[in-house]
Amino acid sequence: MNLKGKNVLVTGGAGFIGSHLVDRLITEEPEKLVVVDSFFLGTEKNLSEAYKAFPALKLYRMDASNLASMIQLVENEKIEVVFDLAVIPLPTSLDFPTWTIETNVGIAATFCELARRGFIQTLIHCSSSEAYGSAVHVPMDENHPLVPCTPYAASKAACDHIVLSYRETYHIDAVIIRPFNNFGPRQNLGSYAGVIPIVVRKIVNSEPIEIFGDGEQTRDFIFVRDTVEAMVRIYEEEETRGQVINIASGQETSVNLLVREITQVMSAPDHPLIYSAPRPGDVRRHCGDVQKMKELIGFEPQAVSRENLAETVEWYKKELL
Ligand SMILES: NC(=O)c1ccc[n+]([C@@H]2O[C@H](COP(=O)([O-])OP(=O)(O)OC[C@H]3O[C@@H](n4cnc5c(N)ncnc54)[C@H](O)[C@@H]3O)[C@@H](O)[C@H]2O)c1
Repeated sequence: MNLKGKNVLVTGGAGFIGSHLVDRLITEEPEKLVVVDSFFLGTEKNLSEAYKAFPALKLYRMDASNLASMIQLVENEKIEVVFDLAVIPLPTSLDFPTWTIETNVGIAATFCELARRGFIQTLIHCSSSEAYGSAVHVPMDENHPLVPCTPYAASKAACDHIVLSYRETYHIDAVIIRPFNNFGPRQNLGSYAGVIPIVVRKIVNSEPIEIFGDGEQTRDFIFVRDTVEAMVRIYEEEETRGQVINIASGQETSVNLLVREITQVMSAPDHPLIYSAPRPGDVRRHCGDVQKMKELIGFEPQAVSRENLAETVEWYKKELL
């Protein structure tokens, strides 16, 4: 499977991962590249590099959960492939659970329906490791139980069940990708995967860095450009259809190590740290099993490298100053 010459739509394409995916898709030379984003969190600025590289990029400010308007859009643009990344994020789900659930589930159902009715050929749906909840076993493979802890995570798990049910019932050409903690430029400064921006902000403002608990809790961080590379390769490999595939580094990075790396990158190795009580419900360990991804697409992303961290820190510094 090849994206060259195809008409491709990215929902949530003005967001963090979506905008990097758009940059990556341009190198595949699609015929048409279309973004649908409600601008709930996304920004046009995130697509400024994409516009330079691909001036024909089309951006629609629309609600991707509206079936009627999505039918019209994919018909008008003759869309063949959809990368579905649009989402209402976790923190919003804590204040507006019903709306978050309705929107997120509505987006997934809309694109499943477009695939069922033959308006689009292929659906690459983006899930989240949040759907697993706290780790019952580590590393977490794709058969790890889904025990979502927030309305956001529950909506992501529900979306996955919807996509799989459409695959089972109507044989739609679809795959579910399940990324772990992404980091990199363009991530919303207030978003939940916020340990990196928070630490950078503290250093920039000369304030002590607060670490909850002993700092030995781990996360599986993956650089955003590795995630979008995996997404494109997953589209290209037909064996992936009907599957759920983790996108992770497969390595655990502790908060202590991450903070140490950031202070090194920012030339502040002696920046003061404060250890405070652990946050309720904070997951102790999170690590993705990447065996399936390796087998299907032969891709082995690294965990947090100095180079990727430095690029990320530079981006945040520019945004903060
Ligand atoms: N960031 C992470 O670490 C991470 C980890 C695992 C999974 N994911 C998943 O990756 C995808 C992208 O996440 P992200 O981190 O880039 O989030 P993001 O918030 O930066 O991007 C999501 C985009 O969707 C848009 N959007 C929201 N509601 C919409 C609607 N109704 N119609 C159209 N657009 C809408 C937002 O404006 C935003 O631009 C999501 O599906 C998310 O669940 C992210």
